[in-house]
Amino acid sequence: MSDILQRLEAMRAAARLGGGQRRIDAQHARGKLTARERLDLLLDEGSFEEYDMFVEHRSTDFGMADQRVPGDGVVTGHGLINGRLVFVYSQDFTVFGGSLSEPHAEKICKIMDQAMKVGAPVIGLNDSGGARIQEGVASLGGYAEVFQRNVLASGVVPQISLIMGPCAGGAVYSPAMTDFIFMVKDTSYMFVTGPDVVKTVTHEEVTQEALGGAVTHSTKSGVADMAFENDVEALLELRRFVDFLPASNRQAPPRRETSDPPTRQELSLDTLAPANPNQPYDIKELIEKVVDEGDFYELQPNYAGNIVIGLARMDGETVGIVANQPLVLAGCLDIDSARKAARFVRFLDAFNIPIVTFVDVPGFLPGVGQELGGIIKHGAKLLFAYAEATVPKVTVITRKAYGGAYDVMASKHLRGDVNYAWPNAEIAVMGAKGAVEIIFRQDIGDDAKIKARTDAYAAAFANPFVAARRGYIDDVIRPHNTRARICKSLKMLKGKQLQNPWKKHDNIPL
Ligand code: HXC
Repeated sequence: MSDILQRLEAMRAAARLGGGQRRIDAQHARGKLTARERLDLLLDEGSFEEYDMFVEHRSTDFGMADQRVPGDGVVTGHGLINGRLVFVYSQDFTVFGGSLSEPHAEKICKIMDQAMKVGAPVIGLNDSGGARIQEGVASLGGYAEVFQRNVLASGVVPQISLIMGPCAGGAVYSPAMTDFIFMVKDTSYMFVTGPDVVKTVTHEEVTQEALGGAVTHSTKSGVADMAFENDVEALLELRRFVDFLPASNRQAPPRRETSDPPTRQELSLDTLAPANPNQPYDIKELIEKVVDEGDFYELQPNYAGNIVIGLARMDGETVGIVANQPLVLAGCLDIDSARKAARFVRFLDAFNIPIVTFVDVPGFLPGVGQELGGIIKHGAKLLFAYAEATVPKVTVITRKAYGGAYDVMASKHLRGDVNYAWPNAEIAVMGAKGAVEIIFRQDIGDDAKIKARTDAYAAAFANPFVAARRGYIDDVIRPHNTRARICKSLKMLKGKQLQNPWKKHDNIPL
């Protein structure tokens, strides 16, 4: 018996050593933690339950028969984050560069299948050179098995990818189908083909960082939601983020007791939106003053800044926030902001998280670039997402709600449950000046006449009462009461039941 136990311990020790001390040192020298060190930081102490430590690859080509490492380049299992169950895989770059073999894929699939059965998030810590080159099509099949599960799990359990090393080829497509992608600056990359292939095919010279680094993907491509300074920060932030999420679409988001009273008034909000509609203000100030304890987990903060998205809590319950940002492009909707917000709205709806929308939007961004880029289709994504969402929807118009963008931003007509406006809100087809220049074109040139007509149009429409008289706005509220009114509405909406007509699935404009 003791022999067997000794053998077991020796095998475990070999698995824990992964690709060996030399490669572990190289990993550390790059400023990266190992797969197991990462799990230690991510999960509650002592909570990790590992599976498949003794799985090995089955390849024999290219001398692989002599190179078997127990665990085969990925550590898998389940554990707790602040007491809540999550399933995890952590790729081990020290073993064949974390590349994905068939058994490596089978290990990932096993924890994904269990996560689906019990209803718990799947977190992938990705550090992989892609398909195991020595294995050929078996590893491609392995990827496809993971992809298929990503798709079936989408909308059932939250899936989060943390990119912590080079991820090329197949290694980017699984993360791409998960709900959120977090990256680490300077050590993580995502591209379909790397700089060398790019140079051969298109003759473009580009660095790894510029092509697929964390900054590139969190500011330019929008592929990544967040970019963190190092492994430790990324893992600790992931723990904080998971706290907001429900375990699955079958469960409500976790409740966190708060000492922040739901009736708290915030007098400074009464002067937040400047009287001059052309003067911007920071919508994040409103968000932080309204949510519990100012704790707002903003996503994609450096991409499409004209819309702000993120998670927060109101009276202890998780909510998703979507808000136009007057500081960037005057808060206009454009291609990037519509795509950013639409995907988030769909995530919230899939996981039963109420949506709080703050509206200050002068319309869609005009321009040849926008039109040729397909703003019609991309803008429709956000419209579609809001219209199909059946979760509680509370909307506050803080200033402008013009044109089609008024309709899009969780308006009453798209089944907004409670729609408020601040007293200075302007809900109209467009701003007074633009409107007058169209309907009184003959007066252009006569400044006095134009001014008089503009003032008259503004007096008639630049207020929330036209909409309120029709019931499109449920109430005009004082800014300092915004938190209290939203909390009250969300409490009322807790029992909301609404179902869309049966269908196989919808056909959102992709
Ligand atoms: C097998 C691999 C590997 C791979 C790296 N290694 N990638 N082994 N299959 N895909 C091994 C290396 O041989 C090396 O082994 C160790 O991992 C570390 O790699 P290095 O190159 O020394 O590290 P580094 O300089 O940091 O470069 C990392 C890298 C590079 C950028 C990931 O290794 C690389 O470009 N790898 C190939 C990437 C690739 O083309 N993957 C296939 C994509 S196609 P030793 O023994 O020296 O430690 C694909 C198809 C799926 O994924 C499509 C599905 C849609």
